[in-house]
Amino acid sequence: MCGIVAYIGHKEAYPIILKGLKRLEYRGYDSAGIAVLNSEGLLNYKRKGKVAHLEEFASQQNTSGNIGIGHTRWATHGLPNDINAHPHISGDGSIALIHNGIIENYDTIKEELISRGHVFKSETDTEVLVHLIEEVRNRENVSLGEAVRLALTNVVGAYAIVVMAHDNPNQLIAARKSSPLVIGLGKEGDFYLASDATPIVEYTKEVVYLDDEEIAVLNRGEEIKLYSIQNQPKTPFVQELELQLEALEKGGYEHFMLKEIHEQPTSIKDCFRGRLNVDKGWVGLGGIKDYEQKLAKAKRLIMVACGTSWHAALVGEYLFEDLARIPVEVEYASEFRYRNPIINEDDIVIAISQSGETADTLAALELAKSKGATILGICNVVGSSISRITHAGSYTHAGPEIGVASTKAFTAQVTVLTLMALSIGRNKGTIDESRFQRLITELEIIPEKVAKVLESNDKIEEISRIYKDARNALYLGRGNSFPVALEGALKLKEISYIHAEGYPAAEMKHGPIALIDEEMPVFVIATKGQSYEKVVSNIQEVKARKGKVVAIVTEGDKQVKGMADHVIEIPETDDTLVPLLSTIPLQLLSYHIAVMRGCNVDQPRNLAKSVTVE
Ligand code: AGP
Repeated sequence: MCGIVAYIGHKEAYPIILKGLKRLEYRGYDSAGIAVLNSEGLLNYKRKGKVAHLEEFASQQNTSGNIGIGHTRWATHGLPNDINAHPHISGDGSIALIHNGIIENYDTIKEELISRGHVFKSETDTEVLVHLIEEVRNRENVSLGEAVRLALTNVVGAYAIVVMAHDNPNQLIAARKSSPLVIGLGKEGDFYLASDATPIVEYTKEVVYLDDEEIAVLNRGEEIKLYSIQNQPKTPFVQELELQLEALEKGGYEHFMLKEIHEQPTSIKDCFRGRLNVDKGWVGLGGIKDYEQKLAKAKRLIMVACGTSWHAALVGEYLFEDLARIPVEVEYASEFRYRNPIINEDDIVIAISQSGETADTLAALELAKSKGATILGICNVVGSSISRITHAGSYTHAGPEIGVASTKAFTAQVTVLTLMALSIGRNKGTIDESRFQRLITELEIIPEKVAKVLESNDKIEEISRIYKDARNALYLGRGNSFPVALEGALKLKEISYIHAEGYPAAEMKHGPIALIDEEMPVFVIATKGQSYEKVVSNIQEVKARKGKVVAIVTEGDKQVKGMADHVIEIPETDDTLVPLLSTIPLQLLSYHIAVMRGCNVDQPRNLAKSVTVE
């Protein structure tokens, strides 16, 4: 997810764009750039790092001009660096372009363009698009807007783009498909463009949200012109912005954490985009392609992580041992690195880390690498330290996670682990075709089922109100729901400061049952599946001691419904994929309880988003 901003009008463009990019940094912040058009020509300034770094660099440059485009990047293709930062410039230097989204067929287009003499500077998918527009414009001798339209008819993927050309100082072209783009209509015939309304709202409340496959031609001082990608003129629908700036950055949600919980249908889909094809019965993770055989032959996998990522690793243990029949050891990175562990050269060590910067996880990896093991990474931040030292890896593509409490990163990590285990199991033949096909078919519709779980938000908020003053809480789960119980407990304690413990449900009898009383809520994952009857017995043991039970159950469950104090229903899914759904109610429970307790949900006390110190 990146942030784009552009301006054309009678004011100086650079300060408007720079301020707008700072407003959009929550969408991505690994590199930034601004291009302006003035008497000196098309000038392009871009730098790795935050917008402030670009500002420092550009402050010594000529940034004058009434037209410009800017971009703050969340890398998907190509490391965060100056070259890969946007805007990207055509080969002849005449066109500048910014892009939010992913061009899925960029490699095919790039090969064709290279065969026709185009020379590329960056590793990005975006640069392909600006070269394609240049080629179409010169070959067809058409307007910039028409060249953009024709070029986009060859593109597969998601885009929100703004394009400007050296010989068109009075015009910007914008287009979108799947990635958001808002056009603010200024009072003096000027236009403000951005990924969302936060950079626009202080200048104008009149906006047009571009629809999919719509192209806007914005001429300074004239009315906005809209076309479909099929070149049909369209009538712009002008809306009045209600939301205030603060709310807009959070997409209308009260907190980043709630926004990110609700982003999970999209982030899970983005995670398996281009990696799962049900029709072709295919699963593939390009980032580890060269290590698939090594993984298939592995005698042992060691997963190292911290916190929520460690819980994802535990889910990974169930996945790999079940689907790929590979022994897995899950280690707290902080313990692993100091235990003088036995690490063999044929071991594969997988680090899981949202930030890719957690000091203990990084150190554990460095230790494994020094002992000759193969090290792989599952990270969310492209170009992070962990992603750079590993031999290979897969990004989770969950987009920036701003809330300190990890939510969408967890389900994205579990999604990548599921894809990895399915792919290796298929290669090894440890999973039969029918189960493989059943699982990938079910995985593809998980985002819709996550969206269905999110519809229980109001009911979950009511339950949260009942238990918001609890002093302790117990979370129980069996099998791959045990890590989810741990994750639910971590969510509650880290943002509401209520002491909470996650336990394997069967272990309750070995101690924690002594804690059960009428005050303590017991959250139990009791979905239909292999251990359902056993979990039902555990619930009865709690009830027999007057405990309060909140159960996560499969839609339509009547048995647990008749014994628990509250049930939260989630759609039926394959037992293997339950963690992707059962986690969601526990995220919402902890969120609402924390809000009701007046806690700082996005920045809980004592916590940091990335623990880069030991
Ligand atoms: C989870 O909600 C916490 N923010 C924390 O436990 C986090 O998961 C842990 O610090 C690991 O971070 P990483 O995934 O960036 O390595």
